Amino acid sequence: MIRLAPSLLSADFGRIEHEIAAVEEAGADYLHVDVMDGNFVPSITWGPKIVEDLCKLTALPLDCHLMIAAPERSAGAFCDAGAALVTFHLEATAHAQGLLTELRARGTKAGVALCPQTPVSMLEDVIDDCDLVLVMSVNPGRSGQRFIPHAMEKLRQARALIDRRHPHCELEVDGGVGEANIHAVVQAGADVVVMGSAVFDGGDAGAALRRLRALL
Ligand code: DX5
Ligand code: ZN
Repeated sequence: MIRLAPSLLSADFGRIEHEIAAVEEAGADYLHVDVMDGNFVPSITWGPKIVEDLCKLTALPLDCHLMIAAPERSAGAFCDAGAALVTFHLEATAHAQGLLTELRARGTKAGVALCPQTPVSMLEDVIDDCDLVLVMSVNPGRSGQRFIPHAMEKLRQARALIDRRHPHCELEVDGGVGEANIHAVVQAGADVVVMGSAVFDGGDAGAALRRLRALL
């Protein structure tokens, strides 16, 4: 069962209730919420208050992707805000194992994300403590970028590691996925697919999500 996670980064926040209802009705499995701090990445997006408010708008689990420096300082606030899943970048902290343990102790699922230049081997020492691994297929920071082809090989490597060490861990791909490559990323091993522009840019997010699902 492949889970689809529309990324709200590409949604129109002026009509966010409508955008969320559209993807929820069309069978989204998660809502992907990109948190950027102007430090780990140049852009700034949302904090825990927005996550708390989004929880009131939807029954979908919120998949919070923290692109923030020193996530050990504020990841817990996203658990308190109601996130179902909190993912932080391995590159952003020296305390990944401790943070994963702390987040899971709060009852939230926890994961780590890898930037395009970070090898899958970096997962070896944390995989047992992850509910999810996120392989970035663009450089983090904005939606609408082109898929980096090498990410396909990283997905295969991460799939092999997960199957060998921790089969319940989910494998999420994020960045540049759409109609042209959704089938290929799933074949490479992804079981959660994040999509921003491919879902929201055409103006009818529900129809776009149904079309993408049909390609699987
Ligand atoms: C990029 C974000 C992604 C982004 C994906 O830093 O992590 O979630 O919204 O957008 P698309 O699917 O347009 O690449
Ligand atoms: Zn993301």
